[in-house]
Amino acid sequence: MTTTLAQPPVFAADDDLSVWPGSTTRLPHEGLAVGGVDLAEIAGRFGTPAYVLDRGEVRERCRAYRAAFPDADILYAAKAFLSRAMVRWIASEGLGLDVCSAGELELAVTAGFPASRIVMHGNAKSPHDLETALRLGVGRIVIDSPSEIAQLAAAVGHRGSQGVMVRVVPGVSAGGHSKIRTGTEDQKFGLSLTDGQAHHAISRVLGQPQLRLTGLHCHIGSQLTDVRPYLVAVRRMVGLMARVRDTQGVVLPELDMGGGHGIAYRPGESTLDIIALSRRLRAELAEACAAARLPVPRLIIEPGRAVVGPAGVALYRVLSVKRTGERTFVAVDGGMSDNPRPALYGVRYAPRLIGRHSTAGTRTATVVGRHCEAGDILAADVGLPGDIRPGDLLAVPVAGAYQLSMASGYNLVGRPPVVAVDDGRARLLVRRETLDDYRARDVGL
Ligand code: LLP
Repeated sequence: MTTTLAQPPVFAADDDLSVWPGSTTRLPHEGLAVGGVDLAEIAGRFGTPAYVLDRGEVRERCRAYRAAFPDADILYAAKAFLSRAMVRWIASEGLGLDVCSAGELELAVTAGFPASRIVMHGNAKSPHDLETALRLGVGRIVIDSPSEIAQLAAAVGHRGSQGVMVRVVPGVSAGGHSKIRTGTEDQKFGLSLTDGQAHHAISRVLGQPQLRLTGLHCHIGSQLTDVRPYLVAVRRMVGLMARVRDTQGVVLPELDMGGGHGIAYRPGESTLDIIALSRRLRAELAEACAAARLPVPRLIIEPGRAVVGPAGVALYRVLSVKRTGERTFVAVDGGMSDNPRPALYGVRYAPRLIGRHSTAGTRTATVVGRHCEAGDILAADVGLPGDIRPGDLLAVPVAGAYQLSMASGYNLVGRPPVVAVDDGRARLLVRRETLDDYRARDVGL
C-alpha cells in the first residue's frame, strides 16, 4: 500500500501533537501540559469549558512574523481574538493592530495600545465607529464604500487630517470556504478594481484635502494555504498604483495585503509557509514596481488566525455518551456557543481525551455540544477511545482564533473563561460569563 502525503488522515493518530502549541508536553496517564501547566489541573481549577492560551506560542508566532517580514508593518487582526492581555502582548512584540469596530478599538486603546499603530476596517462603519476612531486618533481608516468618503471627510472637518487607505477588490478568488473569500466582486467588501470603482474612489479621496491617502488595501480571503493568489493580487494592486500615479500624479507609499494565512486544524493539513510568502511576495512586489517604474511601497500585512489560532486549546468535560444506530455521540459541556466554526464552515477539529489512560481501542465518535440544535456538532467522525464516558476531559487544539471572538449567548450557557499559561503558571485573563451578567443586561422586567 502506498501513502500519499497530500491526503490528510481521517482522524489524528493518537500521539500526534503536531498541531498543538510548541510547549506541549506529555504527562503520565495521558495527561498533557501546555506552557508548563497540566491541562487537567486547569480544568479542575477554572472549570469547563475553558480556553487556554499559550502566551509563549503567541510570542513565538509574533516573532516569526517579524523575522520573516523585517521591513513590513505587521498588524494583528484583532477580530481573531482580543483581550486586554492580548493587546499588551501584541504591543510588546512590536506589532500593530487591525480593528473593525469602536469596541475593538476602545478596548485596545484603553489597554494602552498606541492608536497611531491601529488601522480601522469595516464594510459599514457606524457614525459611532468613525467618531471613536477620530476621537482616539487611529492611524488609518480603510475606506470600503463610496458613501464613506464624504461621511468621513465631513467628520474629520476642514482643519483636520486623517490617514486613510482604500480597500480594493483585486478580482482574485481565494480562501478556505466560500464565506471567507473576499477577493472578488460577488461579496460585500471593498471597491472593484475591474469595474473602475476603486480608481474612482481613489480620485475622490484625493480630492478631499483632509483625507491623507497613504495607500491601498486588499484582503483576498482567509485560511489560504497557497502563496500564488497573493502574488496575483500584488501585481494587480501595483498596476492600480501605477494608474493612480499616471492619472493623478500621486505615488502612494503603502500597500496593505491583508491577512488570511492558513493554519492546520488537524495533523496532516497544510499551512501557509510565511517565510515562502514573504520571499515570494516581496520579490513579486519589487518586480512589479520595477516594471511600472514605481518605488516599492511599504508592505503591510494583517495576520489574525496564524498568530493566535494554534496558541489556543479548548477544554471540555464529557456530559453524556449515547450510542444510536451506527453512531456514538459524545456530548460535552460547550458547543456551538463557544465554537460556531464547524457549523458555519464545516471545519474539522481533532479532539483528544486527556488525563486518563484508556486501554480501549479507538472508535469513531461524533463530539457534539450541549445546545438545543442538531447541528451543534464540534467534531464529526473522530477517533476516540471506545470507553469514553461522562466525566472525561476532551481537549481541542488550534482553538485560539475565531472561536471565543465569535461566541454567542445561545441557551444562556455563558461564554467560557480564558486562561493564559506561561512558564508553568496559569492566569485568568477573561472570567466565565455568568447568569448575573445576563441578568444585569436584562433591564426590562
Ligand atoms: N484583514 C482583514 C481586512 C480581514 O477581514 C481579516 C479577516 C484579516 C485581516 C485576518 O485574516 P486571518 O489572517 O485571520 O485569516 N470567522 C472566520 C474568519 C473570518 C476572517 C475575516 N477577516 C473563521 O472562523 O475562519
